Amino acid sequence: MSAAGTRPSSSATNTVTLANPSSGQSQSLVLRLNRRKKKVTWKEGTVDNEFMQKKSSKKCCIFHKDKPFDEDTSDDEDHDHDHDHHHHHDDHHSKDAGETSSLLHLLEPGFKEMVVPRDLPELIRRWMDREAMESELSKILIFGGTGYIGKYLVKVSVLLGHKTFVYARPTPNTPQTSPSPSYNSTRNSTPWGELEEHEKMVSVLRQVDVVISALAFPQVLDQLKIIDSIKVAGNIKRFLPSEFGCEEDRVSPLPPFEALLETKRKIRRAIEATEIPYTFVSANGYGAYFVNLLLRPHDQQQDHIVVYGNGQAKAVLNYEEDIATYTIKVANDPRTYNKVVIYRPETNIISQLELISLWEQKTGRSFKRVHTPEEELVKLSETLPHPENIPVSILHSLFVKGDFMSFELGEEDIEASKLYPDSKFTTIHQLLDIFLIDPPEPATAAFA
Ligand SMILES: NC(=O)c1ccc[n+]([C@@H]2O[C@H](COP(=O)([O-])OP(=O)(O)OC[C@H]3O[C@@H](n4cnc5c(N)ncnc54)[C@H](OP(=O)(O)O)[C@@H]3O)[C@@H](O)[C@H]2O)c1
Repeated sequence: MSAAGTRPSSSATNTVTLANPSSGQSQSLVLRLNRRKKKVTWKEGTVDNEFMQKKSSKKCCIFHKDKPFDEDTSDDEDHDHDHDHHHHHDDHHSKDAGETSSLLHLLEPGFKEMVVPRDLPELIRRWMDREAMESELSKILIFGGTGYIGKYLVKVSVLLGHKTFVYARPTPNTPQTSPSPSYNSTRNSTPWGELEEHEKMVSVLRQVDVVISALAFPQVLDQLKIIDSIKVAGNIKRFLPSEFGCEEDRVSPLPPFEALLETKRKIRRAIEATEIPYTFVSANGYGAYFVNLLLRPHDQQQDHIVVYGNGQAKAVLNYEEDIATYTIKVANDPRTYNKVVIYRPETNIISQLELISLWEQKTGRSFKRVHTPEEELVKLSETLPHPENIPVSILHSLFVKGDFMSFELGEEDIEASKLYPDSKFTTIHQLLDIFLIDPPEPATAAFA
């Protein structure tokens, strides 16, 4: 390839010349950058990017119209938005030298001339894509990121490319100087903090865009402190409080569970009153958590399975990894702004009796069904001391009354699997397969 073959004339700016100085044998390009262009800046009045209060930095908005490559473009900065939007967005991924040059202005100062590998444009593109992705993606702070569902949230948030921070309380062994878990970032660390440390919380909140709380039930009301801090910080684009269960505004279970839901409702009302942008997540049943609780797959000796009530009420069980994935998605989705999202995929609606039959098919074993009548659960919910009365009233609500499925979804409701038709929840079948291969460990939720 000759020097002329490097398409300088299609360069979008005169500040870069791409030329291959040698014959087709060479695997190098000479790249001369005569001046460093400014970074993208935002004019007053630039429109929000889809309610997220973010300014788009998509390349489509920094496209430079074709010019002779030696023409000064210094005045063009102000005309970036005058471009013809008819160029196809697939252009973002084309190998056009002009576009590559539009990326080069972000290289470090001092980068003047060097011999570079032929695939540099591609490398730059990838580097820029990653940088662009990081700057486009929200920064997420997770409270309760060391807990049961919190760990899944942190993992997925990192995997999806978000800079992810965990506000974690120090343990007795935590040195004051060590950073708390901060993921996907070598440039940031988050101090350990207690929920009472308002100033610290505000300063951490100011570094992020989205806040997800996965605090345990006993800390639900402590989220009022998070709300106060979010109010003061003033920059949070979305807050997802610790809910992750049934749609608390549409069910009325036995009193011990009702009292628990009432504290979660208090948080909903406080968020609405302070006008913090929110998404409320009704994730329904944690799949692995309840498979462990109902089927006891770790107990190889058992010959029976307890069935609560008649075992026919339908429940919804979603694998925790999916709950985390959809939660990170909805936390960043303009369609879920100030909305409740319900995770009710059709493949995950199942009764206890169906679940047991499916497990028998998969394991080749058979289990005696031992029923605990509804009246017994109601009685236990009235007689057991707090907090032991809570789990029985939850079992009654979810598996006897069928509260996950006790209301129809209307036109206005947002159901997660419909929101992202291209993604698929792990089905109950698949979840039981996971239990056959590598059973997730049983867990117990904290109620006090
Ligand atoms: N839908 C369902 O099937 C289902 C099942 C269970 C729970 N849930 C709901 O899921 C949400 C999260 O529950 P979870 O079981 O995942 O919680 P968890 O495992 O008990 O995790 C609790 C988190 O809260 C933190 N925490 C505990 N006490 C704290 C304190 N005093 N100050 C600050 N942080 C504290 C823990 O930090 P440390 O690591 O420092 O202790 C941990 O990160 C809750 O809203 C719960 O009601 C739903």
